[in-house]
Amino acid sequence: MLLNSDTDVQVNLEEEILKLKKDLNAVILAHYYQQSEIQDIADHTGDSLELARRAKDTKAEVIVFAGVHFMAETAKILNPDKLVLLPDLEAGCSLADSCPAPLFKAFREQHPGHTAITYINCTAEVKALSDIICTSSNAEKIIRQIPESRPILFAPDKNLGKYLMKKTGREMLLWEGTCIVHETFSERKILDLQTMHPDAKLIAHPECEEMLLNRADFIGSTSKLLSFVKEDSGNEYIVATESGILHQMKKIAPGKTLIAAPPESNCNCNECPYMKLNTMEKLYNCMRDRSPSVELSTELMNKALLPIEKMLSMS
Ligand code: 13P
Ligand code: SF4
Repeated sequence: MLLNSDTDVQVNLEEEILKLKKDLNAVILAHYYQQSEIQDIADHTGDSLELARRAKDTKAEVIVFAGVHFMAETAKILNPDKLVLLPDLEAGCSLADSCPAPLFKAFREQHPGHTAITYINCTAEVKALSDIICTSSNAEKIIRQIPESRPILFAPDKNLGKYLMKKTGREMLLWEGTCIVHETFSERKILDLQTMHPDAKLIAHPECEEMLLNRADFIGSTSKLLSFVKEDSGNEYIVATESGILHQMKKIAPGKTLIAAPPESNCNCNECPYMKLNTMEKLYNCMRDRSPSVELSTELMNKALLPIEKMLSMS
């Protein structure tokens, strides 16, 4: 039982959310960085690519997206006629913020002839200006399909971009964006942890800084990190990504020791402040009110759909 602050009425949020889900014929999609309770009540959890695929394939009439704005926007672009709800419209992303559409447009104009591969962590406007969208789990595969003769421009995450350049051997022009969560990890504290846990493997999301990725035993998207922990023969892991992923890791590998990589300062900076804006109460409220919803113009959705579809067909 929790108090709903809007109405001052005591409600059992889990029960009410499940009832509303049935009434609305809704599907709840949750990213791995959401609060544990939200992940547990969702129909599907996943990384950005898996959630986009779930959104594309769903038969539900309403999509409730427990994630950040660019993820819900992608779901809307793939389902222009469906209602797409986001518990908190302020749930943004520092990478999307780093790449305003007018500046990205100018960047493209300065580099004609380049194929623009854009990380899904960007606004619908930036997607509409891109040739192909990618996520951390399919970027390498997509880059390898671009003919060597075509120069590539990659935005907005420079850390992911540098990692992909190293992995594929392709030069790319990089936008200078970063994720405020993944650039926060402390190399010094991670080295201390490795001394204390000599058998622990360091696993990292490719949005982390180069110096950390150079030390990592495994690098991958949130889903790939999860599968690695499940399938690997080791027992201890230092996990360099948003700490919400530990909830699923503990569920799929209950016997293993999982240590969240610490940030440099004594803050909760390894939690994404945007992802964590969503709460069970806001999830309930958005389903009850059928609001807030993601609204985009048809013209924008049509333009942004092309590079998303290209991504889906190339991955
Ligand atoms: P994934 O696609 O790996 O889940 O990453 C999304 C994200 O926002 C990472 O910060
Ligand atoms: Fe954006 Fe970073 Fe949060 Fe992912 S963790 S949603 S990249 S701010």
